Amino acid sequence: MRKKLAAGNWKMNGSLAALDEIKALASVTDGSVEVLICPPAPLVHAACAAAPETVAIGGQDCHAKDSGAHTGDTAAAMLADVGASHVILGHSERREDHDEHDEDVRAKCNAAWDAGLTAIVCVGESLSQREAQNTLDIIGGQLAGSVPDGATGHNLVIAYEPIWAIGTGKVPTTDQIGEVHDFIRARLERRFGAGVGRSTRILYGGSVKPSNANEIFAVSNVDGALVGGASLKASDFGAIISALQ
Ligand code: G3P
Repeated sequence: MRKKLAAGNWKMNGSLAALDEIKALASVTDGSVEVLICPPAPLVHAACAAAPETVAIGGQDCHAKDSGAHTGDTAAAMLADVGASHVILGHSERREDHDEHDEDVRAKCNAAWDAGLTAIVCVGESLSQREAQNTLDIIGGQLAGSVPDGATGHNLVIAYEPIWAIGTGKVPTTDQIGEVHDFIRARLERRFGAGVGRSTRILYGGSVKPSNANEIFAVSNVDGALVGGASLKASDFGAIISALQ
């Protein structure tokens, strides 16, 4: 069935020296779950060289175009060229800091697929949207707008990251997580058919730690996690990986 995925998003953290944390994951990964680290763009190449065989490397964003006058941006093919296999797209920090909208994420996702990358498309509601009981409408709209046609079980991963849970230590209840993950699964099956819908991994992200990983991973349709702060140290991320194995 679906292979579990433990994905680390280093955000704007890390250094060449910090790649030792990726090397150290060799002792905890047994190959039964997929493990991925997404460091900042300047570290992707070196991370690919440093990573043990059991750890894949991804980018945190890519441009929708193949090449050209886009200062500061990274093409999906460049990530693939240096050995990356995945790219995170539409993270709420990109949506907010860089004014990215669903149509931008969709175009980037097509670019990622053209380059042979697996796209991890992030969706999630704000606190005010949740309090207004709009969570499922927001998630449904983001899924429809951000994910292009052409998803397969392999080229797409969805990450549900409630914005209010990111870096805050606040975590939704397991019922709240389950409700959204079940909803995402149903939407994927409806749009792409049962085969693709059932084989696409859905990750939870937002204040995942060694102390809450077991409880979160027991929720239906949670196929792993997209982890921020707790992915920076091999000791913490290793414990989260162990909870999935
Ligand atoms: O993409 C991962 C993320 O946004 C969650 O961050 O630090 O709450 O685990 P954190």
